[in-house]
Amino acid sequence: MKGDIGVIGLAVMGQNLILNMNDHGYKVVAHNRTAEKVDEFLQGPAKGTNIVGAYSLQELVDKLESPRKIMLMVRAGDVVDSFIDKLVPLLDKGDIIIDGGNTNFPDTNRRVAALKEKGIHFIGSGVSGGEEGARFGPSIMPGGSPEAWPFVKPIFQAISAKTENNEPCCDWVGNDGAGHFVKMVHNGIEYGDMQLITEAYQFMKDGLGMTHDEMQSVFIEWNKTELNSYLVEITSDILGYKDTDGEPLVEKILDTAGQKGTGKWTGINALDMGIPLTLITESVFARCLSSLKDQRVEAEELFGKKESIVEGDKQVWIEALRQALLASKIISYAQGFMLMREASNENGWDLNYGNVALMWRGGCIIRSAFLSNIRDAYDIDSELSFLGSDSYFKGILENSMSAWRKVAAKSMEVGIPMPSMTSALTFLDGYTTARLPANLLQAQRDYFGAHTYERVDKPKGEFFHTNWTGKGGDVSSTTYNS
Ligand code: 6PG
Repeated sequence: MKGDIGVIGLAVMGQNLILNMNDHGYKVVAHNRTAEKVDEFLQGPAKGTNIVGAYSLQELVDKLESPRKIMLMVRAGDVVDSFIDKLVPLLDKGDIIIDGGNTNFPDTNRRVAALKEKGIHFIGSGVSGGEEGARFGPSIMPGGSPEAWPFVKPIFQAISAKTENNEPCCDWVGNDGAGHFVKMVHNGIEYGDMQLITEAYQFMKDGLGMTHDEMQSVFIEWNKTELNSYLVEITSDILGYKDTDGEPLVEKILDTAGQKGTGKWTGINALDMGIPLTLITESVFARCLSSLKDQRVEAEELFGKKESIVEGDKQVWIEALRQALLASKIISYAQGFMLMREASNENGWDLNYGNVALMWRGGCIIRSAFLSNIRDAYDIDSELSFLGSDSYFKGILENSMSAWRKVAAKSMEVGIPMPSMTSALTFLDGYTTARLPANLLQAQRDYFGAHTYERVDKPKGEFFHTNWTGKGGDVSSTTYNS
């Protein structure tokens, strides 16, 4: 009997996905560039299963049922292109290549188009959930050649995570690089969620002077509220974890954050599309700032930074902090969905936002109860332009407003950096302000560069120039917006 699917790449994610597929009754052919890895896998975790090995790409191709489905679980970038180049001459028209790595979506756009000309279908799929997710149910976000989806769907939906109603956290996202785009936004939101949690931790630790056991209890309690999520859950575990000397391990970890690029891509795309994705972008910059460790150490001394004590009833502050975190999280997701909406319009992807929320409901790093509410919001209005306008989320934003402002103001007063929570509030203040000071900005642009402006008392699209000083000419520069 031939194999149902081939997987190339036996690193952690590849191995666990294969074992997961095997558990669901699929016959998987496993290949890795180095043959020893294949042997190690077959004699190790894959022993006693239906998984078979292939020591060359030709052997892999020969062992697969038509149309062949070959999933690449290799490092994003050139390695993917190199495998595609080697595979294509061995494949038949109608065969399917799937890239399950964290690929930048323009690469997927390019590969879908290039392979289409050769009659090969290509799927670029986000896979989230780390090692545990890959093994027992990841969130899977596939996009690319729609013709390929019916062949891949049963396998992907079988191995994916399931919601509490047993719905698979995997569905077709859209054409071209839509799947990798949605995975990129998922990761951007992951950056935002993580940053928000760390801001709450710093407020509790430095501002309220709480112990790690106290903070752990707070996160355990928060996990029983609307904040219920994987990231809040692991944070409580981390805060309770003691090193061999009995001290909290987290305080022994160097405070410089790493990043592999997906958060940065999300910010870059937001800038390119003109979407005010402030919270995620602040979270990327917060990681950049953290990496300037030596400079920060020097600057703390140079400026004689004082301790940041927050006075008042601790329990009241903790509840205010919870509300500020929840409200900020709503803004982060609202901005993320704004970005996906713009990308969907620009690329003709026709994204289904409720389905995206469903795919993120289980299995992935940002999985949370909250995503069910997002799905409900898009069920009510599939074209909702701002998540915060949905009645459920609007209610939370309104109820949290005063606590959120108190926390933001206090953090500024005592000097605890909370870039994501404060930028979320600033965004909402801007978004809910009918008249912003951009009129003055337009006047400045027109003053120094004759860039023209529109008037509130004239139809939009009519542009005016004023000779502000009486010295310049009346000639205006061309009006265009990038
Ligand atoms: C996931 C994660 C996964 C990975 C990130 C980490 O969805 O399973 O997002 O993709 O953990 O790449 O990203 P950074 O190294 O940039 O934090």
